Amino acid sequence: MNFESYFKCPICKGDFSRAGNSLKCEKGHSFDIASSGYINLLKPGKMNNAKAGDSKEMIRARSNFFLSNAYLPIRKKICEIVGRFKNNLIIDAGCGEGYYTQGIAECYPSSNVIGFDMSKFGCEHGAKSARRVAKDNILYSVSSIFEMPLSSSCADIVINMFAPVASEEFLRVLKTQGHVIVVSSGAKHLNGLKSVLYDDVYDNEEKFPNYDGFELLCIENLKYDTIICGSDTIYNLFTMTPYYHRTSTQDKEKLQNISSLETTVEVNFAIYRKL
Ligand SMILES: C[S@@+](CC[C@H](N)C(=O)[O-])C[C@H]1O[C@@H](n2cnc3c(N)ncnc32)[C@H](O)[C@@H]1O
Ligand SMILES: [Zn+2]
Repeated sequence: MNFESYFKCPICKGDFSRAGNSLKCEKGHSFDIASSGYINLLKPGKMNNAKAGDSKEMIRARSNFFLSNAYLPIRKKICEIVGRFKNNLIIDAGCGEGYYTQGIAECYPSSNVIGFDMSKFGCEHGAKSARRVAKDNILYSVSSIFEMPLSSSCADIVINMFAPVASEEFLRVLKTQGHVIVVSSGAKHLNGLKSVLYDDVYDNEEKFPNYDGFELLCIENLKYDTIICGSDTIYNLFTMTPYYHRTSTQDKEKLQNISSLETTVEVNFAIYRKL
């Protein structure tokens, strides 16, 4: 598939053409496709921002956690929503290691799916995993989702799962009537994990802002109880949450004493349409 037709040079915004294992623009800016298959399209001056993306350890923890299938209902739900709309080109903005990106590409083999993430490790992991199942309708690119190296009005759907919302940029890259699906934690999400860590457990705040240029069509809630087995899997889940950075070493140790964790998983899918 000719992914280069969707991309613009991040430096001069010119068109790209493929030159061997690189994308080259008309002005000669050249970006190599890594041997694993992802492409780093961060502007040279923005390379340091790559630190803003998830680290190798965080990506590894997340991909190991996904093997437990505890979040499979979330993947099924996002695939089902994507199937309701025109979906020739789907962007996964803040794709991480590609669990949902690949799920969608497998569900819709005639669609193209591009995952953007600041984390080189996430893109590399996603590309390797796509290659293992011979999926050639996925491409991962290291880029900021606030400045995606994409043509305007090229995408049918942007999915944005547990990542920052770059609504102005989503508006630019979407076709008119295209959809954004913003997925975020629901009120009771991971209450079981929080009750192991903290004495006082509060519900998560749910926010569904209006974004300029979009109408909010609906919010769909997915809520289920699950048991996470194995201390490694529990710790991997913890590593991928915001609590990991906010919890004291003393509180973190509480997780070492448990080998199974009962918790609610609650996620909201806010569906917006570009006006
Ligand atoms: C909590 S993770 C979610 C990843 C994936 N959507 C998932 O649900 O498994 C948030 C991701 O957003 C990425 N991220 C944060 N800020 C970003 C930015 N400005 N541009 C691109 N990616 C960003 C991080 O590197 C990380 O992989
Ligand atoms: Zn250029």
